[in-house]
Amino acid sequence: MKIAFELSGEHATLPRAEVIACLESLNIAFREVAFMDQLLIVDVQDVPPIAKRLAMTHHILEVVFICPANIKSILRSVSNADPGIDGKTFCIRAKHIKGTDLSSTVLEKEAGAIIHKKGYRVDLDKPEVMFHLVLTEGKCVFGRLIESVDRSQYEFRRPKQRPFFHPGVLLPRFARALVNLSSAGDGLLLDPFCGTGGILIEAALIGAQCVGMDVQQKMVLGTSLNLKYYDIGGLLIVGDACATPLRSEKVDAIVTDLPYGRSALIQARSLEHLYHCSLSEIYRVLKKNKKAVIVSQMPLDKFAEEVGFIVKERYQQRVHRSLTRQIIVLQK
Ligand SMILES: C[S@@+](CC[C@H](N)C(=O)[O-])C[C@H]1O[C@@H](n2cnc3c(N)ncnc32)[C@H](O)[C@@H]1O
Repeated sequence: MKIAFELSGEHATLPRAEVIACLESLNIAFREVAFMDQLLIVDVQDVPPIAKRLAMTHHILEVVFICPANIKSILRSVSNADPGIDGKTFCIRAKHIKGTDLSSTVLEKEAGAIIHKKGYRVDLDKPEVMFHLVLTEGKCVFGRLIESVDRSQYEFRRPKQRPFFHPGVLLPRFARALVNLSSAGDGLLLDPFCGTGGILIEAALIGAQCVGMDVQQKMVLGTSLNLKYYDIGGLLIVGDACATPLRSEKVDAIVTDLPYGRSALIQARSLEHLYHCSLSEIYRVLKKNKKAVIVSQMPLDKFAEEVGFIVKERYQQRVHRSLTRQIIVLQK
C-alpha cells in the first residue's frame, strides 16, 4: 500500500528524514515512492505505527490515487477511483502546498459531488472517512486520512510551561525530531550537555531510558525538576562532557545540543577543545553502528570525522539572523 505523510513546512528536509529514521528504527520495510514539497510517499506492507512518535508530520494518508494537478485529471481520477469506504459518510479537504491556483472550495465540492453520486453520504461535521486532496509540485495526491499527529502535545510541553526554564532551550517539536533522527528505541539515550532536559523529556516519552549530564549543578537540578514534572525517571550527572563517567560502548543513542558562547567555556580551554574532546567521548560511549545527533552553531564534520564518526546526514536550521543551527547525524 502507498502511504503519504503530509509534512510540516517548518523545514525543507528534516520532516522527511524524521519519518525515514522512524521507519528504519522500527525495521519496517519500505520503498520511497516520491518526495515533494511537504509530502512524502512510501510503499509499505501495513500502516506503520509511528504517528505517536513523529513531530514534523501533520497527517498520514492511505493514497487512493496520484494524478497531475489540473481540474480535469483530478475529477476524472475521482470518478475512476474506488473510494473504498463501505457506505460510510465522508468529507474532502483540499490543501494547496505548491504550484496550483485551483480553488480548494471548488475542488472539494466537485470531487465530493462525484463520490456522492456513487452513493455515499457527505458529512461535513463528523465524517466517518476524511479524504485529503493535496496539491504540490504539479501533482495531486488524494488519500484517506489514517491518522493525524497530535502536534498540540508539543505546545503543552513548551519550555516556559516547565518548572525550570533557562534561555537557549530547544523547542519540544525540534527536540523530538532530533531524538527520532537518532533512531532511539527503548535503550539508553545520553544527552551530555542536557541543559534544562528538553531532549531527555522527548526521548523518555518515546520509551528511551535517559542519561543526562551537565557541567553546571543548577542545570542538573533544574533538569531533575523538569523530568519529575512529567513523571520521567533517568540518571542525571553533574560532570564534564570531556570526561563522561560511563563505560565505553554503553549507550544506544546520543542526542545533544552543544554549548556555544560563554556557557561553553565553563570547563573548557577553548570552544575547539571542547568540541573535539566531547565528540571523542561521545564516540567512545556509543555502541557500534549506533547514531549520535549533534546540534551546534558551527559545522562539526571535521571534529566528528577526526574521532572516527561517519557523517551520515547534515541539515541547517535558521533560527534568526545571527543563529543558524547545524545538525549532523553521525554513525559509529
Ligand atoms: C545549549 S545548552 C543545552 C540546552 C538544552 N538542549 C536544553 O534544551 O535546555 C548547553 C549546556 O551545556 C552545558 N555545558 C557547558 N560546558 C559543558 C561541559 N564541559 N560538559 C557538560 N556540559 C557543559 C551548559 O551548562 C549548558 O547547560
